[in-house]
Amino acid sequence: MSGMYRLFYVSTKAEDIGEEEADKIASHASENNNIRNIVGALCFNGNHFGQVLEGPQEDVFKLLDTIRDDPRHKDVIIISEKPVRFRYFKDFHMKRVRGMDFEELVTAMAAE
Ligand SMILES: Cc1cc2nc3c(=O)[nH]c(=O)nc-3n(C[C@H](O)[C@H](O)[C@H](O)COP(=O)(O)O)c2cc1C
Repeated sequence: MSGMYRLFYVSTKAEDIGEEEADKIASHASENNNIRNIVGALCFNGNHFGQVLEGPQEDVFKLLDTIRDDPRHKDVIIISEKPVRFRYFKDFHMKRVRGMDFEELVTAMAAE
């Protein structure tokens, strides 16, 4: 599949953001991403978000611009990004990943 892109970023939560808000962000994202042509996964460890976004490169960066402006977090730092042949999270418009580390996201970035 041509033009497919995978990107992993981390960010720091804004004050007052907790597990419940992270769940809300993931479920709303899941609905939106269906239309946006994006799949991926979102992890929240209590302080930081980690997110993998996958889709056509243009769509990934368009969404990232929107996400960057979201006041529920700050300091969005791209950790890794690359063109890919397959969508690792093809079955999830936005998978809600539990856990303190970003293990599943790192594993996804290592995949083809
Ligand atoms: C950590 C984090 C991850 C997000 N991920 C997504 C996402 O994958 N897709 C999405 O549409 N919005 C995501 N958002 C929300 C967007 O910033 C924005 O609020 C939303 O797209 C607006 O949706 P609406 O136009 O339906 O109101 C995320 C927000 C945060 C803080």
